[in-house]
Amino acid sequence: MNINGKAYRTIWLGADGWSVEIIDQTRLPHEFVVATLRTLEDTGRAIKTMQVRGAPLIGATAAYGVCLALRTDASDDALERAIRYLAAQRPTAVNLRWALEEVRAAVRNLPREARVAAAYARAAEISEQDIETNRQIGVNGVALIEAAARGKRPGEPVNILTHCNAGWLACVDRGTATAPIYEAHERGIALHVWVDETRPRNQGAALTAFELGGHGVPHTIIVDNAGGHLMQRGLVDLAIVGADRVASNGDAANKIGTYLKALAAHDTGVPFYVAFPHSTIDWTLDDGLAIPIEERSAAEVLVMTGRTSDGRVEPVEIAAPGSPARNDAFDVTPARLITGLITERGVCAASRDGLLSLYPERR
Ligand code: MRU
Repeated sequence: MNINGKAYRTIWLGADGWSVEIIDQTRLPHEFVVATLRTLEDTGRAIKTMQVRGAPLIGATAAYGVCLALRTDASDDALERAIRYLAAQRPTAVNLRWALEEVRAAVRNLPREARVAAAYARAAEISEQDIETNRQIGVNGVALIEAAARGKRPGEPVNILTHCNAGWLACVDRGTATAPIYEAHERGIALHVWVDETRPRNQGAALTAFELGGHGVPHTIIVDNAGGHLMQRGLVDLAIVGADRVASNGDAANKIGTYLKALAAHDTGVPFYVAFPHSTIDWTLDDGLAIPIEERSAAEVLVMTGRTSDGRVEPVEIAAPGSPARNDAFDVTPARLITGLITERGVCAASRDGLLSLYPERR
């Protein structure tokens, strides 16, 4: 997708053919900085500190992290150490575990000298597949926006609410929750996106608004507490969010605050959709309460970073000095509050039967 009219992905190989380049998302929206990952540790740090974030992108980055580790040591031990280390960086997004298992499967039966090339090949496929998968999510989800548009007067926009950033910056390209939005925009459907700011790290205000703006998609940033009010007033036609892990019964973990939006949507009759690829489904979990929830530093709640009037990017303390803070990074929305799941295979009910109708091979 575009930044200042130039097409980017979130991750690509450097000119040397082996180092990994990423857009440093901790610097957006104020600065556009490309960071280079050369080691396993660079990759782990990028995932942990959220230079890369978003479930599919975490997976794609981890796959390249294994490649970088194998360049220095292609033994079985080093492979398993790298996988354990990377898997521990962020616990909730299951795409991380999925991508690591994919790379392990691609290399484990090969002789050492063939492992690096095979790992890079699988990592590249994971990135390419992410883009194609998201394109399909867009094609499947756009029907929901088209249906909402049919109830509108000519030129009146469909209002879509989204939470966090499940856009192209959270993936390799295109996004999950944003894929139907970009598809609708490209088809000329009038739409407008309510962007939850998404405290504490403001992925909505900083990233979703940045990328929608870059594509000319009309949008408005709202505080996290505003969604219920806007739904009550008939100002939201549908909500589409992403997911970090979906249990086999359709319960969906996503950025903290998603559950509250789903409750408000349920109360007000606003359709609430969750968009994600197959790699976000955890078939080993019967329900969402077993999903591990990442707890991050209290500093993310107590300190905010922004641009000052003279152009410096600075952290500022926003809370009563000395007060403690708690920072659960995700919550679980129960399937009963979800109108439908949008995947690359189609749209289904948020239930075990619904998911199995799209993925019958999991029966
Ligand atoms: O903590 P983050 O920024 O990695 O959380 C991201 C989200 O919660 C996204 O909504 C989710 O990963 C879906 S990404 C397509």
